[in-house]
Amino acid sequence: MARLRKVVFPVAGLGTRFLPATKVVAKEMLPVLDRPLIQYAVDEAVDAGADTMVFVTNRYKHAIADYFDSAYELEETLERAGKHELLATVQGLLPPHVRCVYVTQEQALGLGHAVLCAKPVIGDEPFGVVLPDDLIVNDGPGALRQMAERAAHGGTGVLAVEEVPRADTGKYGIVDVGTGGDRIRHMVEKPKPEEAPSTLAVVGRYVLPARIFDLLEAITPGAGGEIQLTDAIAQLLREMPVLAHRFAGQRFDCGNKAGMVRATLHFAAADPELRHLVAGLQGG
Ligand code: G1P
Repeated sequence: MARLRKVVFPVAGLGTRFLPATKVVAKEMLPVLDRPLIQYAVDEAVDAGADTMVFVTNRYKHAIADYFDSAYELEETLERAGKHELLATVQGLLPPHVRCVYVTQEQALGLGHAVLCAKPVIGDEPFGVVLPDDLIVNDGPGALRQMAERAAHGGTGVLAVEEVPRADTGKYGIVDVGTGGDRIRHMVEKPKPEEAPSTLAVVGRYVLPARIFDLLEAITPGAGGEIQLTDAIAQLLREMPVLAHRFAGQRFDCGNKAGMVRATLHFAAADPELRHLVAGLQGG
């Protein structure tokens, strides 16, 4: 499999768990400390070697394009005020070789449908998918880079997975890898705990071949009446090996308040100016 150049960010969701804030602020723009979730996601894609960021967005999410655009007045003001460090921060959100492409998802028909909207930009090459809600941190290579390296050697699709409590299987795509292996045999979207084939859950990172688009075009709505990426991958498994990658790193589910608080505490504990606050919380 060739180098992973393009990464898709499905960012057209409503973010209802964070209403009322998400009435006007895209959930991907909610900050963990001073950086929005989308920045962590894009950084991970850049770390994986990608140079084309494809945002699948909608009419309410202009803030994401504005965020990655240059802000002439702000930059000019910071320059004149001699605030060079801040200027470097706002100018350095993306490395110079990286470009952003915005594609509209006109109807909220599901994650599979969102990924399919990126087809004209991806063309015929393998690509990554990053769900910014799942914030993954570690000190070494990022999760997507780990996956791209496995895909480069195996020529296959790769999905990030982690063990979850059985009670939570209904929140995830669940994979079955049999005993001991990492080749996925079977995959099902949000099964009830008693029906789940395992407790190995897909988290928001995928490396996929362009073949997935043909499969997405052919499937009918699945769980929740949505076009599910999981259902298309379940078809792909019959044609080629798709691997479950138990990534090195810690995942925070920032799609809900508890995960957002945990992520914030994690980064605060690593910040010299804030760590005493976290220590204070633990002490109290
Ligand atoms: C989506 C996928 C699911 C996956 C999850 C990871 O669900 O459909 O298979 O396990 O992301 O975060 P969502 O969280 O969008 O409902």
